[in-house]
Amino acid sequence: MRSKTLTLAAVGAGVALALSACGANSAAPPAGGGGTSAGSTSAAASGGGVKVGVILPETATSARWEGFDKPMLLDAMKAQGLDADVQNAQGDTGKFAQLADGMITQGVKVLVIASINSDLGKTVAAKAANAGIPVIDYDRLNLGGTSKYYVSFNNTKVGELQGQAFADALKSKQGAQVIEIEGAPTDNNATLFYNGQQNILKPLYASGALKLVKSQPIDGWDNQKGGNTFEQILTQNGGKVDGVVAANDGLAGAVITILKKNGLKVPVTGQDATAAGLQAILRGDQYMSVFKPIKQEAEAAAKLAAALAKGDTATADSIATQKEHDPTGNRDVPSVLLEPQTITKANVKLVVDQKYVTAAELCVGDVQSLCQAAGIS
Ligand code: BGC
Repeated sequence: MRSKTLTLAAVGAGVALALSACGANSAAPPAGGGGTSAGSTSAAASGGGVKVGVILPETATSARWEGFDKPMLLDAMKAQGLDADVQNAQGDTGKFAQLADGMITQGVKVLVIASINSDLGKTVAAKAANAGIPVIDYDRLNLGGTSKYYVSFNNTKVGELQGQAFADALKSKQGAQVIEIEGAPTDNNATLFYNGQQNILKPLYASGALKLVKSQPIDGWDNQKGGNTFEQILTQNGGKVDGVVAANDGLAGAVITILKKNGLKVPVTGQDATAAGLQAILRGDQYMSVFKPIKQEAEAAAKLAAALAKGDTATADSIATQKEHDPTGNRDVPSVLLEPQTITKANVKLVVDQKYVTAAELCVGDVQSLCQAAGIS
């Protein structure tokens, strides 16, 4: 049942993106229909200069934000004729608010935010709304917020992919002892990843197939804190662990450092298919990662932004045909929710083929020969 729903959702997203492509073409001088205002015509005709502000949350929690999101957002916005200012708040809530204030004062036509936490995102969205600027929540949904649209992945599915791969890796180890190192409790995504993991793991804990030692959220997705916390839990458990659910590649890397220090090698999950994560997978230090096609996420955000910059909510609605539930605000937010994919040693090549990571950055030092064995060049 679940997989059927997800498949339909994926098809829906595909149709929405195809529709939005038509919408983008019609941004050129109005082809009749009468709904286009003079203002939007001149903005579209100029083919640029329509300012969109984008604020990303952090650099240290994951290599994705600067490595994938930023360049892909810049490209996608440009392709839509938008002039995007993409900034990163470096995990500093004050800086995030300041960047938002600056963009609102400059008069951006649309604001795209991946907030550090929901309250911050909520405040920024309210300020922007006061100034008549539409806001798109990017990747992270701000609970209790007012953003009209949300672009992300099926984040529960991300967790399910982690849980499933992890369960597969430990299936012959009855009663394997598991430590879970989770994302920031203030990031709704971390909750969704956790929920997805538990959909798979809870029955296994209940049956005794796996044994949960401890599950610990990590404030701010702080990788170092993740490593330290893992080390403490490991020590408290007498140095015994058979597998670690780590919510992303950054946390996985910190966990692997501690495992190595203790002479241990066990299945560890991850997410984001970062170069470091993929190297760890090729080395056999990390069992899996989750590849999220961020290019599609950036493109969906850009298409939505292009429509909203023209005040064209009909096109925006035809793009954001899915819904994400906000349990705090008790509303369903029109969304684009893309499909994540499991990466193990068997398909690391896929991420290189899709040009997220180059063979040159991946296949260095000891990883060179591993790349060769994996057919990556
Ligand atoms: C993103 C993940 C990322 C994490 C830490 C989450 O909101 O969805 O891709 O690893 O934040 O930056």
